[in-house]
Amino acid sequence: MPDDTMDFNFNGGAASAASERIRSLTEFITRCDHEYYLLNRPSASDIEYDRAMAELEKLEKEHPGLKMPGSPTGRVSGSPAKEFRQITHETPMLSLANSYGIEDLRDFETRILKDLNIGRAPSDFIKPEDIQYCVELKFDGASISLTYERGVLKSAATRGDGRTGEDVTANVATIKQVPLRLALDCDAVVRGEIFMPRSVFAALNTAREDAGEAVFANPRNAAAGALRQLDAKVTAGRGLNIFLYNLAKSPVVYEKGKGRETAFETHSASLEFLAALGMRVSENFSVLRGMDAVIAHIEKWETMRRSLDYDTDGMVVKVDNLAWQASLGFTAKSPRFAMAYKYAPERAETVIESIQIQVGKTGTLTPVANFTPVTLSGTRIARASLHNADEIEAKDIRENDHVIIEKAGEIIPQVVEVIVSRRGPDSKKFTMPSECPACGSPAVRNEGEAAWRCVSLSCPAQFIRKAEYFASKRALDFEGFGEKVIETLVEHGLIGDMADILKLRYEDFLKLPRFKEKLASKLALEIEKKKNTTLNRFITALQIPFVGETTAASLAGHFKSFEKIAAASPEDFLAVGEIGEKIAASLARFFSNAKNAGIINKIFEAGLRIEAISSVRAESDRLANRSFVITGTLSVPRDSVEELIEAHGGSNASSVSKKTSFVVAGDSPGSKFDKAVKLGVSVITYEQLLKMIE
Ligand code: IVH
Repeated sequence: MPDDTMDFNFNGGAASAASERIRSLTEFITRCDHEYYLLNRPSASDIEYDRAMAELEKLEKEHPGLKMPGSPTGRVSGSPAKEFRQITHETPMLSLANSYGIEDLRDFETRILKDLNIGRAPSDFIKPEDIQYCVELKFDGASISLTYERGVLKSAATRGDGRTGEDVTANVATIKQVPLRLALDCDAVVRGEIFMPRSVFAALNTAREDAGEAVFANPRNAAAGALRQLDAKVTAGRGLNIFLYNLAKSPVVYEKGKGRETAFETHSASLEFLAALGMRVSENFSVLRGMDAVIAHIEKWETMRRSLDYDTDGMVVKVDNLAWQASLGFTAKSPRFAMAYKYAPERAETVIESIQIQVGKTGTLTPVANFTPVTLSGTRIARASLHNADEIEAKDIRENDHVIIEKAGEIIPQVVEVIVSRRGPDSKKFTMPSECPACGSPAVRNEGEAAWRCVSLSCPAQFIRKAEYFASKRALDFEGFGEKVIETLVEHGLIGDMADILKLRYEDFLKLPRFKEKLASKLALEIEKKKNTTLNRFITALQIPFVGETTAASLAGHFKSFEKIAAASPEDFLAVGEIGEKIAASLARFFSNAKNAGIINKIFEAGLRIEAISSVRAESDRLANRSFVITGTLSVPRDSVEELIEAHGGSNASSVSKKTSFVVAGDSPGSKFDKAVKLGVSVITYEQLLKMIE
């Protein structure tokens, strides 16, 4: 928290005190966001952060005129837009010349040397080894231009046709890695790439497939789609991220109100400047001397890039010296001082042996292609989802066809296209079945949905998928409970709902064919161990429609207890930053369903325990051996005061006794106050409590 905690009085001519407090909270939260989202090095605790945010929101409401531009309370706000406004780029957003082979890079070097040496005396000639290149990853997302004025984010625009793009400021402001305020008072136009991490993409597509919604072909399309949402709340829930890689023009830095243009000697120095302003710049850029070093670096990254959690489709090679960049200049389309080296996407040819239907946890019937195994990006693959009937028809995929396989986002195998010229007489068209292959119920297709579904409530295949998810890494993380084990448990009637999984014992596993003592005890122990779980995991495990890991984490962070989530109204859910109408309604529907409540009860009866939210981090022991009781209405939520007490080593009690060290009293205190007076227990205010901690 800022140091000047609550040390002033708002009542008597306090506007300047309020303004000062708002400024200090705004700066504090901006710094926290930077430390947390960019540096992975938070210095404040979650409680301090939440308290600061709550106080800032309250003060801004009381003094709307004092709200600072770029306030962190404005990340997700406003109602959905009707359309995007057009924005003209002050300097056009160009593209890069592409190269696909080493030869192209050599030609690039030759051209640069020739151009730079025009008009130079031979004794002054620039030699190949004099040129330093800044080599960066080429991020495969959607390019973006951010304009900051006096240190505040003013607009974010898509590339569009390079001259005019769309105003997506409200959406970009939801990305926590985009600073709304910079560390310096300056004007700057910065370019970068917005992307969806691969892990987020995989989870999003799984959820969409289950919901019968069209899936995204790759993280780039998913990022572009998220960026073009008219409702910023939808964007906020899509887990986008950013890297900035270019200053479109020299920034103007203000000192004592006077602006001064700041020039850099090298592009790499300007990247360091961006990072110092608080922007997310990839740490994977290298300054290398000469083209040989560049080529070796590019070769090294061909495999290294595959382990990143985001897509890259190549490397960008830029002449680092900015004076040389200026003299090389631009063509109409691209700079002459830079070149993109594109890696060939890893693809393989194979034959589709069969197309099978897989039943998802919500009954979605997904066609899956089984093909002759091939190795892509180092892993052997033999199956790819064909997503839905429309996709099969659009690509005209048939059994026994020769096809090209690629990994979307280098993780999910996809059939890119059919090699029609190699189609033989045995090629067989696929038709979606009219019945669920698992239970024989009729398959239906809802209007506007791409998916066919089995709508039976007693379909065993659906339950198997649900149970698998319940036990999966994302949810309760029961190691060893894969597809086969769950299938066996269901087939032998050992589990009929989620709660049954938690009740399984060593003896139950032994009843199963081929389950020996060792495996049985391993599985039984795993359940015992993982019965203690976190709120995030439990909410994810419930598989509430439209609620994946990200939303579960937001819910846990906001409500902090399962009871509060289960009792919340749609309005309460809407108060969570990233939750819109659709998710709020789905949550409320889920928790008001009596059958769900019954299963949840059974789960708790089976021994599931949710660990207290881990945000209570030990911060000091200043309140050690002291017990506190809170009464009356405080200016901050009661549970955050309790967490604060615990974080400093104190303990909370619900009733006052002679052993109580302090009663913290707010407005309209109740009988606990009277009892404290009677027993002679010290009564303090919240402000006094804060002083004790300082
Ligand atoms: S510099 C004048 N650096 O690639 C162009 N671009 O084909 C300045 N891109 O539109 C771009 N990673 O969206 C640059 N490290 C990087 C990049 C990068 C991805 C994208 C960018 C641009 C496209 C060019």
